[in-house]
Amino acid sequence: MSDLLTLARWIKESRYTVALTGAGMSTESGLPDFRSPSGWWHNIDPRTVASVEALEADYPLFHQFYSARIRALADSKPHRGLLQGVATQNVDGFHQQANQQRVHELHGSIRKVRCHSCERQADVESFLTGQACPACAGRLRPGVVLFGETLPEGAWSQALTDLRSAELTVVVGTSLQVYPVAQLPSMTPGRVVMLNLERTEQDERFDLVLSGKAGELLQQLNSLL
Ligand code: NAD
Ligand code: APR
Repeated sequence: MSDLLTLARWIKESRYTVALTGAGMSTESGLPDFRSPSGWWHNIDPRTVASVEALEADYPLFHQFYSARIRALADSKPHRGLLQGVATQNVDGFHQQANQQRVHELHGSIRKVRCHSCERQADVESFLTGQACPACAGRLRPGVVLFGETLPEGAWSQALTDLRSAELTVVVGTSLQVYPVAQLPSMTPGRVVMLNLERTEQDERFDLVLSGKAGELLQQLNSLL
């Protein structure tokens, strides 16, 4: 409890608090993460479904995987917003649904769809029903960052701006195994706190590490603020 009291004090003292989140922020909302035993990558090699190569070489498998992830959103419930300024690796849009302001989607959004060839926007239903791009007959894809693609420059630079100004950065629900996001905690001048179910390779770099479920810890934290 003393660690939660310390974090609550740091949040009250901080004039600029930012969160960096990962899939562990949404598991209690019913969405699997990636590298836990029940995660998406537990029995799927991500490059066979979450890469440009997969999109171009095996569209049926790519379409099946992302259709399942889009449909999983319908059975899930977003979390309640507790933090200002969020840089997220998540593509589920839950931070926005929880009325968070300044959300930087570093890996894009599965709620947006575009043509992989001409980049024209399309609706999610067109993707789910297997339509081709109405403009060029190209392959439709979710607006997520695939393996082999770089991060959206706007989201990346805005996240950097927030982190470089932050007096406190709370990292929630990420294994910090994917670059370039994994380097972000080392790029902020302020205090850094890790809130995660499991230990990560970067834990010793943090001023405070709280192990546990994000939902429970953030609820307890909220009661102290
Ligand atoms: P990786 O080991 O190939 O590292 C990605 C590289 O991204 C880093 O070395 C970094 O230099 C570069 N990079 C990309 N965009 C950048 C930006 N806007 N600014 C600065 N550096 C940038 O990582 P990976 O796991 O092979 O993933 C490659 C890309 O696919 C990454 O952008 C990642 O976010 C994305 N992605 C990864 C996974 C996964 O499970 N690893 C899944 C989906 C998407
Ligand atoms: N509360 C706190 N932490 C949790 C919870 C929870 N309820 N559930 C899971 N976790 C932790 C797990 O222990 C794990 O360390 O969250 C972390 C999730 O890590 P990953 O599954 O690796 O997900 P993430 O870090 O978001 O992956 C980054 O990889 O495949 C790409 O593009 C994909 O954005 C994703 C990126």
